Parts: sequence; structure tokens; C-alpha cells
Amino acid sequence: MYEGVGQYLFYLGADDHFGGDDFNQKSFVQYHDEAANRGAVILKFGDQVGAITHRDPRYSARTVKDSLKKDYFVNAVLDELVELWKPYVDYIGGFGMGNHEVSFLKFYGVNLIMMLIARLNALRSKNLRPIAYLDYCGFIWMTFKSSATGGSYSGYKAAYHHGFGSNAPVTEGIIAAKRFLNNVDDVDLLIVSHLHKNWSIRTERFRLNRQGNVVCRPVRLVQVGTHQQTYKEPGDFNMSWAETKGFPPAPYGGVFLTLTAADRKEITARVEH
Ligand SMILES: [Fe+2]
Repeated sequence: MYEGVGQYLFYLGADDHFGGDDFNQKSFVQYHDEAANRGAVILKFGDQVGAITHRDPRYSARTVKDSLKKDYFVNAVLDELVELWKPYVDYIGGFGMGNHEVSFLKFYGVNLIMMLIARLNALRSKNLRPIAYLDYCGFIWMTFKSSATGGSYSGYKAAYHHGFGSNAPVTEGIIAAKRFLNNVDDVDLLIVSHLHKNWSIRTERFRLNRQGNVVCRPVRLVQVGTHQQTYKEPGDFNMSWAETKGFPPAPYGGVFLTLTAADRKEITARVEH
């Protein structure tokens, strides 16, 4: 619940894949600094951690960086994640799970995201609500209370799913996202990730209202990008999995969503990449 009319900014991201050699810290810092400087609420939808360790068939020398090659991997990766996120701790709204965190959970019975949230909540300003655990998929309902009237708006409804499937080099996952949109009713926004793409689509849905008039409303789909590098730096001869599969270079960074709430009007949305 947000108080009052005005503009509210959210930064939507996923697929940082922290912990391996292919995590692009420069782009991570650039986008999250911008989110914090603009006062955005940061929402992340999974694969914050790569966490491909030796029990995982995808493991290779580059999936765990040297500073994390420890018997106490869980402690080491959480310590580094806390340092990475500390500058943004008061801006985080929620963290979701991706297939990488789910694989780790299956191998070791450890939910890295729940543990990270607990560590970050301890560092967060006490006047803020705790960071939400968003799981693999779900809904976010942003409601805005008008200070002028004291009444509340119906709000803006988002559905999210970390994502599924393979790289989709031609369609960029648009068909899969539209197919998934068929499963959810009455949302203004569907957020997907996992494919390391960055796009948004504005589509329209129309229906008859109670007065029998045809009314349209926009429904947006967004794919929120990554901070994992597909191709290696020159002179690095360890094989990247994405490179061997011929994946296209991934676009870095997430999506900024601005919601504008005005008295007695529908909430409007704007998307920036
Ligand atoms: Fe993923």
C-alpha cells in the first residue's frame, strides 16, 4: 500500500547469476546504483545467484569463482552477496527464486534466497517493512491510497514467473510469455525472466463493462534482462556454457516501471529499459 497520489518507481530485474566468472559486476552496479539514486523499489525475480557447484551437471571451472571455491560455499557466497547488496538494502522490495536457486535447494536442502533475505533484513532500516520472499511465481498488488479522499484505488496488479524453456534466439520468449499470460486473469502486467532478454510489449484487452460499453485497458509483458555475460573476455579460455550453445550476447540490465496514481483516475504505467 502506497500513500497518496504521485509517481512510484520500481526496478524489475533478474538473472544476475552472481558467483561465477560470467557475472558482470559493472553492469549490476550501474543499474542498481541508478535504481537507488532514483529511489526505486527493487524487485528481483530469480537467479540472483548462479550457485552451480560440483554436484550440478552444469558445473565447470568458471561457474564458481575462485573466492567461492570453499568447503563452506554457502557461508562464503552469502557473505559476498550481503556485501554486494548492502548499498541497496533499503531499496529492496522483494527477491524471488529462479531455477538456479531451486537446483541448489534440491542438491543441498538450502534456500539461498531465504537466507539472503534474513541477512539483509537485519541490516535494513527498522522503519521499513521486511524484504518480501517472492518464490518462483506469484502476484504483486500495488494499491494506492488517496490522501485527498481517504479512499483506496483498486491498484495495479502484476503477475510474475521466473521463466522456463531455452534461449529462444528468434522469438525472444514472446510466444511463451503470451502463452503464460493466458493462464492469468485480471492483471495489468506480466513479468518474466530466465531467458536473458530485455523487452516489453504493450497489448490491449477489451471487454464489456457493467453499462454494456466496450472498454479497453493495457496489459504489459516485460522480460527483465540479466547481468550474466555470454561471451568471455579475450584471453579467457575456460568455456562458457552459453558460448558453446551459440547463445546471442545478452542485454544487460532490468526494466524501470513508473506508476502514476492520480485522484479518481486509473493508474497509468510507463516502462523504460
Ligand atoms: Fe533462470
